[in-house]
Formats: sequence, structure tokens, C-alpha cells
Amino acid sequence: MDEIAFHKPFVSGREIDYLRQAVASGQLAGDGPFSRRCEELLTQRLGAQRVLLTPSCTAALELAALLCRLEPGDEVLMPSYTFVSTALAVLRTGAQPVFVDVRDDTLNLDESLLEDALSPRTRLIVPVHYAGVAAEMDQINELAGRRGLSVLEDAAQALGGQYRGRAVGSLGRLAAFSFHATKNIGCGEGGALCVNDPDLVARAEILRDKGTNRRQFFRGEVDKYTWVDTGSSYLASDLCAAYLLAQLEQLDDVTRRRREVHEAYHQRLAPLQQQGRLRLPVIPEDCRSSYHMFYVLLPDEARRDGLLRHLKQRGIQAAFHFVPLHLAPRGRAFRTWPRQLVRTEELAGRLVRLPFHHELTESQLDRVVEAVGEYLEA
Ligand SMILES: Cc1ncc(COP(=O)(O)O)c(C=O)c1O
Repeated sequence: MDEIAFHKPFVSGREIDYLRQAVASGQLAGDGPFSRRCEELLTQRLGAQRVLLTPSCTAALELAALLCRLEPGDEVLMPSYTFVSTALAVLRTGAQPVFVDVRDDTLNLDESLLEDALSPRTRLIVPVHYAGVAAEMDQINELAGRRGLSVLEDAAQALGGQYRGRAVGSLGRLAAFSFHATKNIGCGEGGALCVNDPDLVARAEILRDKGTNRRQFFRGEVDKYTWVDTGSSYLASDLCAAYLLAQLEQLDDVTRRRREVHEAYHQRLAPLQQQGRLRLPVIPEDCRSSYHMFYVLLPDEARRDGLLRHLKQRGIQAAFHFVPLHLAPRGRAFRTWPRQLVRTEELAGRLVRLPFHHELTESQLDRVVEAVGEYLEA
């Protein structure tokens, strides 16, 4: 029996055509014509002040941390249930992550804990929109506004999602997206920084381009370009942008198809939820997901591990997800709020991600659902 793949990168069919055009133009460096087309598309879609393509979401998060002028000793509130890049970007500036527990329903940052997690050194909050479902951004922004903090959305998984009618990525002062091969659309490795605060746009362009004002020079705003600030090489090659444009143009179709697969899983697994054998993902009424993944929560870790083994035997690729950062060797050094992240630890141990991509067929879906039922009803 054929193995059922966990993920298949989407291919729109226009990638080769755009790559050929990029090669023929000879403009392969960053900030070229395809980068600008991607950035314009994203800017319009998100209603952002400026979107900058980057080599990865990790790079976009680092750029954001620099833009927020984080300093050694500063603290940044974030979930522990996230990818390592969320914390790495902050650490790079000398600031420290503070890991806050998550909500039981969406596995996103628990906004009700944030106020008590603050210290005089808190500068930034980084909500992660897990699985493409937005964190409670209104409450997070309200607290940040009241306490003079910045908000950076880690929207790596969430392009195409919405929160109360607004695009994910337009909700924080800054937001970072990923175009890694594992995401709904991508270009192998890639990312974007969404700058929603007009006061940060000029400096974002400089920091992305090795601390130089080269962009201003190209626009004719200065007569030569030079080193003016800190920064790094956070530009994406125009080759990557050419590939990405072919994918971005199809984002709505990809999201629609992923939504169908998500809803089909939900419907077919609902009886198991009614019997209390597993829990299905929650998408709050006021959120539209990007449908980045489909996960189920088992009653405990032993049964989670058992299900993973069972699916493997049946030729079905499935996976657990993040090892909470506060439990990782490098993550243990940092403050958590509260002292024990009970929900994070418990949920991380119960979660299984099922095969999920735009090409998953009805019969593959049936096979996965059947295998899950077979294990849980045994
Ligand atoms: C929540 C989160 N943040 C950041 C990243 C990093 O993305 P990239 O691989 O594009 O650097 C990921 C990647 O999976 C992620 O899931």
C-alpha cells in the first residue's frame, strides 16, 4: 500500500516561467523586480505600510527584534509552544524570552496571563498564530498599548488567516511570515516582514540591507549610499521571489483547498470526539484559519505515542510537534509564567499532526480516519 505523505509542497505551474524571466533579466539579487511584485501583492492583501521579503521567517523575526531596539536585559513575552526561531531572534539582541503558558482551546498565548507576566524590563509581546489560527490580538494589543510595549506577530504559519475581519499580519506593529517548503505556499526557504507602523519603514529598509541607505539611493533620495545603522543581509534573492510570486498568485485557491480537507477531517473524526476519544482543533467564530495543519489531541501522551506508531505501521506519515522551548536544553535558563507551564506541557504531549496538504485524496483521507478510529476504538 502506498505511503500517505505528511506534506506536499504546492506547485502552481508558473514557477519555471517566472524563474526563466528572472534568469533572462539578469537581476537575481535582492530587491529586484520579482521581490517588488511579491511585496506589492502582500502589502495590498494585508493593508500593511510596507512588506519586505527576507530569506526566512527567522530572518524577518531577527529584523523585527532589531527594529524594536531590544537591548541586553530586556524581556519579551512569548509562548514556549513555538518554533525555536521565535526565541532565537530575541536572544540575538541580548534580550531574554519569557515563556508564557497557552490557552487550552487554540494553543495560542494565553492573553489573560500576560499582565502578571510583565516586569519593568518587558518591551515586546510575540504572539504565535498556531496552526494558522490567530491569537487574541485585541486583548494583546490593548495591554501593549496601555503599557507602551510593541507587538510582533509570529505569523509563520498563518498567511491567509483573519482575525475579526482583519488579515493576520496586519494586527501587530510588526509581523513575520514564512515561505519555507513546509508552509502552505513557499519558495524552499523564504519569509517576509510586514511593517505596520509607518515610523519603522525607513529603518526597516536600512537594517535589511546591511545597515546601508542603498534603497534611498536607488530612489534618488541621497546622492550616494553608505553605512548608516546596524543591520544584516536580510534580503531574499530575486530567484526565490520569482518562485514565490507564482505561488502567491494562487494563495486563495490553496487556502480554499486546504479548508476543504480540514473540514472533511473534522466531519469524519467528529464521532470520535463525541465519544471522548480525541479532541479536534478549535477555530474561534471570529477567526478564519490559514489551515496550516490538522492536528488531534489524544487523552494522554502514551496514547499519542501509540497512535503515531500505529499510523506508521499503516503507512501513514504523522508527527508530533514542538518540544516546548522551556524544556529544551537551551531554553531551561529562561523565566516562565506561571512557574510551571502545565497546559503547554500537557498539550504538547497529546498532539498528533495528521497528513495534510492540498492534494490529499478522499481515499487517503478515509484511510487516515479509519486508521485513527481503529487504534482509538481497539
Ligand atoms: C511559529 C514559527 N516561527 C518561525 C518559524 C521559522 O520559519 P523559517 O523556517 O521560515 O525561518 C517557523 C517555522 O516553521 C514557525 O513555525
